[in-house]
Amino acid sequence: MKLLHVVGARPNFPKLAPVHRAARALGLEQVIVHTGQHYDEAMSAGFFRDLDIPEPDVNLEVGSASHAVQTARIIERFEPVLLAQRPDWLVVYGDVNSTMATAIVAAKLGVRIAHVEAGLRSNDRTMPEEINRLVTDRLADLLLTPSTDADVTLQAEGEPASEIVFVGNVMIDTLYASLPKAEATGYAQRMGADGSHVVVTLHRPSNVDDPERLRTVCAELAALSRSRTVYFPAHPRTQQRLTALGVDLGNIRIGDPIAYFEMLDLVRGAHAVVTDSGGVQEETTALGVPCFTLRPNTERPITVSEGTNQLVLDLTTLGGLVEAATRPAAPRRPAGWDGRAGERVAAALAARP
Ligand code: UD1
Repeated sequence: MKLLHVVGARPNFPKLAPVHRAARALGLEQVIVHTGQHYDEAMSAGFFRDLDIPEPDVNLEVGSASHAVQTARIIERFEPVLLAQRPDWLVVYGDVNSTMATAIVAAKLGVRIAHVEAGLRSNDRTMPEEINRLVTDRLADLLLTPSTDADVTLQAEGEPASEIVFVGNVMIDTLYASLPKAEATGYAQRMGADGSHVVVTLHRPSNVDDPERLRTVCAELAALSRSRTVYFPAHPRTQQRLTALGVDLGNIRIGDPIAYFEMLDLVRGAHAVVTDSGGVQEETTALGVPCFTLRPNTERPITVSEGTNQLVLDLTTLGGLVEAATRPAAPRRPAGWDGRAGERVAAALAARP
């Protein structure tokens, strides 16, 4: 039985790693296609090395472009690859353009699609990721869900129960497996992080492409940076916007994106995290670190109801919220966030030859 995994952007890589490892243990044949949506060392190659993922068999090298152009390039370049490989399953991850684009190709060629992280909804169609989730789930033949709320959503949307399998959160597999390596980097200590520090990640168009929002967030963070160390490893698009706007960053320690283990080391000991990422909402819940998400909604409500996540609707309250944050006595782990989700994905696929 042959699996063809597609990944393209940073958040895909920690999800692929445990699935690939578990499928290898079952003796399944596997091919990895990287679309090239992310291509910087820190956004891509470093993750493959750190997470022991084999080099991609094919790289479509699509690079950055508008959503239409990037999606179209992936569709065009992926079709001959899929025709040549003829896998039993296309396995796609999360909600990035690479996920949706390759699902469309597979659906038209009659190749079965398994979607890892199915059923998440923000119910906000201004987010490109929401469109990608909706299209991918409609086309997928196997809907592998990270939390039980996703099962309920998919059933309500009319997906047959036979196609929905609750497997848990594969990214949390990678997180648990990586904690010793994260600690071994000594990164947080080297950076002078003392537990009162705050870690920031921001890249969503709704935050960084809106000058007013970006200025307000940075004013709150700059105020925090007077009493706490604020680390802000910034996504390339965020760096571009900050430079273009000439925003005052106070003492914020802004820099390039950092490696996965380094980020984990910084986050696990943080007082709080400020983010608009999907994955970081989940990682902070698993680690029991207070998380403030700068979005009006989340496709991961379980991180609010069972975890440490809080949506920040009024950005001018951010500084006060961060100052007042406290850690729970012990992290609460949603069902299926147990480090074995990759094994359940591989088993679900192996059971459907
Ligand atoms: C993508 C995903 C988003 C995910 C994020 C994680 C979609 C729709 N969005 O958003 O869900 O949370 O990845 O990072 O797929 N760039 C570089 N180097 C790179 C990659 C990007 O400089 O290696 C810059 C380019 O200027 C590019 C911009 O970042 O135009 C945006 O990249 P893109 O992949 O289009 O979307 P992300 O914002 O990264």
